[in-house]
Amino acid sequence: MSAAPKPNPEAEDQLFRLLRQLDEAQGASQRAMAQGIGVSLGRLNALLRQATAAGFVRVQDMDGPDKRQRFSYALTARGAGEKNRLTDQFLARKFAEYDALFAELTGTTSGLNPLKHRTKLMENNLAPIPELYVSYDSAQKLKMEAAELVSWDLTPRQICDLELLMNGGFNPLKGFLSEADYTSVVDTMRTADGALWPMPITLDVNEKFADTLEIGQDIALRDQEGVILATMTVTDRYTPNKAHEAKMVFGADDSAHPAVNYLHNTAGDIYLGGPVTGIQQPVHYDFRARRDTPNELRAYFRKMGWRKVVAFQTRNPLHRAHQELTFRAAREAQANLLIHPVVGLTKPGDVDHFTRVRCYEAVLDKYPQATTSMSLLNLAMRMAGPREAVWHGLIRKNHGCTHFIVGRDHAGPGKNSAGEDFYGPYDAQDLFREHQEEMGIEMVDFKHMVYVQERAQYEPADEIEDKDNVTILNISGTELRRRLAEGLEIPEWFSFPEVVTELRRTKPPRSQQGFTVFFTGFSGSGKSTIANALMVKLMEMGGRPVTLLDGDIVRKNLSSELGFSKEHRDLNIRRIGYVASEITKNGGIAICAPIAPYATTRRAVREDIEAFGAFVEVHVATSIEECERRDRKGLYKLAREGKIKEFTGISDPYDVPESPELSVETENVDVDNCAHQVLLKLESMGLIAAQ
Ligand code: PPS
Repeated sequence: MSAAPKPNPEAEDQLFRLLRQLDEAQGASQRAMAQGIGVSLGRLNALLRQATAAGFVRVQDMDGPDKRQRFSYALTARGAGEKNRLTDQFLARKFAEYDALFAELTGTTSGLNPLKHRTKLMENNLAPIPELYVSYDSAQKLKMEAAELVSWDLTPRQICDLELLMNGGFNPLKGFLSEADYTSVVDTMRTADGALWPMPITLDVNEKFADTLEIGQDIALRDQEGVILATMTVTDRYTPNKAHEAKMVFGADDSAHPAVNYLHNTAGDIYLGGPVTGIQQPVHYDFRARRDTPNELRAYFRKMGWRKVVAFQTRNPLHRAHQELTFRAAREAQANLLIHPVVGLTKPGDVDHFTRVRCYEAVLDKYPQATTSMSLLNLAMRMAGPREAVWHGLIRKNHGCTHFIVGRDHAGPGKNSAGEDFYGPYDAQDLFREHQEEMGIEMVDFKHMVYVQERAQYEPADEIEDKDNVTILNISGTELRRRLAEGLEIPEWFSFPEVVTELRRTKPPRSQQGFTVFFTGFSGSGKSTIANALMVKLMEMGGRPVTLLDGDIVRKNLSSELGFSKEHRDLNIRRIGYVASEITKNGGIAICAPIAPYATTRRAVREDIEAFGAFVEVHVATSIEECERRDRKGLYKLAREGKIKEFTGISDPYDVPESPELSVETENVDVDNCAHQVLLKLESMGLIAAQ
C-alpha cells in the first residue's frame, strides 16, 4: 500500500469551498464561482479538474443558465460525502487554531476541544446540527445519477435508522458503521475515534447482495416503494459475530430478547459500512405535522425561547400517572416539556402508533399549551435497557433537549428465557448518570407514581409517609391489557375517558376481535370435516365474518402451481398464514385446515397472526394407521405403491404439535362433538361470548 498523501490544508479549504458552491449555487458561471471561492480562474479550472478526476464533480453539458459557458458542473454523491467530511475537518482546524491563539495570548488553554469532543459551551442545544442531506438542487441531480446504481431495498428498521442518520438524530454518525466503528461500539460503546455511541447502527444485507459489491462502490438506498432516499459509498463489508454483539449490546445471547431474536432470525449475515449522502427524507403519510427533525425542533425551541427542555420518551399510551410524573419532571428541572413518543418500531405487541398518537393528542389538551409540546420520533427501538437509555439521551440531545426522563427499567425487553429480567431495574439510570456530563443532557429520575385514594391524587410511591393509613391504587400494564381484552371497567382515576375510548376502539374485547383457528393433521384425519362443522356453528352464532381456508380450497385458488416439496409446502402455509392474518386483523374469523406438517412454519404463521389476534392451533390427532385404514381418497394406497412421492406420514415427515391450544381425537368421537370441543375452547379463551 502506498503512503497516504500528506494533507494540504489550503488545497483542502479550496476544495471544500468549491464543493459547497456546487452544492448550493449550481449553474453559477465560472467567474462567479472563482470569486466566491477566492481563487483565480486558472486555479478554479485546476481545482475542477482534480475534483472531477477524484469523482467528486461531474461535468455536464451546456444546460446551465449562462449559455455562453461551455460546461456546467454538478456535485456527485461522493463529492457530497467529501464535503461533509471536510466540513468537520475544517471546523476542527478552526477550533485548534483558536485554541493555539488563545494559549498564546493568555498563557492558558481556551478549554475548547476539537469538533469531536465539543464542549457544552460550543454545542448549544439551540444551534443547528449537521445533517447529511445535500441541497435540493443537488438532490434532484443525484437522484437521477443514483438511478443507475446498484440498489439496496431498505428494511423497515433500516429506514428508521437512515432517517435519523440523515437528519442528525444520530449525530455524530455520518453513515452506517464501518467495521472498526462497529467493533469499537460493540465492545466499548464508543466509535473508533472515541465518541460515545452505544448502539451499532448497521446496514445488514444478505450474502448474495454483498458478493456483488466492490469496496469503494456507491450504492443507492431505496425505501419499500423503490424511492431513492440516499446513496452510500461502501467502505466496509464484514461478517459480524452476532453472538458477541448480542452479549455485549443486549446483555445476553438469548432469543427471548426481541432485538437478539431480530439479530439472529431477521437481520442479514453481512454488514455494509460507509458514509451516507442524504437525498430525501422517508415519506410519511401519517401525522406529518407532528413529526420534526432535530433542526426543526431546535428552531421551534429557539423561536419559543425554550432554553431548558425535558424530553419524555414513551412507547405506551399516556395515562394520568404519566401526566403527573411529566409535570413533576418539568417542574424539578424548571424546564419546558417535550412529549417525544417513538412511532418507528417498538416492542412487538405494543399498541400500534396510530392509536397511541390519537391518545397522545387527547392528553395533550390537558397540558398547558405554552409549556408543553409533542413531537413524534421515527426511531426503531432495540429494547436494550441501559445502552438504550444512553442512546435515547444522545438522540434527545441532538433534538435540542437538555433533560431526559429515565425511569425504572427504561426500554426493558421483558423476561429472558429463564423467566428473569434481562437488566436490573436501575441499570439504565446508573449507566446514564455515568455518562450524562459527556453527553450534555441531564437525567431526571422517573418516579413510580401511585394513586392515593384518600387524597385523590398521584404521588411518588417512595415519598408517601403514611403508607399504612391510606389506600394506594395502581393498575399494571398487564392488568390494563386484561381489562381491555375482557371489556372490563377502567376507572377514571387511572386514565382519561378519551384515552380509554380510543383504546377500546382499536382493541375491542376479545369476543369482538378477529382470530384464527388453525387445524393441522394428516391427510384424511378429518380436519376439513371438523372445520366445516365449526364454520357453520360460528355462522349460526353470527357477529363476525367467517372464512374457511381448507387445504384443498387453497391449493385450488391460491397455490395451484405448488407441489409437495418442503419448499412448496412452506410457501403454501405461509400464504394461508398471510390471508388468515389479514382476516384476523380486520376482525374476521379465519379457519384454516391444511396438513401443515412442519413445526417451524406453523410457528412463523402463529407469530404473523398473533400480531393481530388469537391463534388457536388445533391438532386433529388421528393416527396415521387410522388415516391409512380410512383412505377416503385412495391416496395412501398410491403413496405405498410409490405412485405419489413425499406423502405426509408415509414418505414425508409430520412434526406432531408440542403444545397446541387443543388436540382432538376423532377415532371414537363424532364430528359434531369435535367441533363442539373447539367452540368450548374458543369460549374459554374469551373469543366467543358465552351464550
Ligand atoms: S400441505 O403440506 O399443508 O401443504 O398440504 P395441503 O395443502 O394441506 O394439501 C394436502 C392435500 O393434498 C393431497 N395430497 C397430498 N398430501 C400430502 N402429501 C402429498 N404428497 C400429497 N399429494 C396430494 C391430499 O389430498 C391432502 O388433502 P387432505 O384434505 O389433507 O386429505
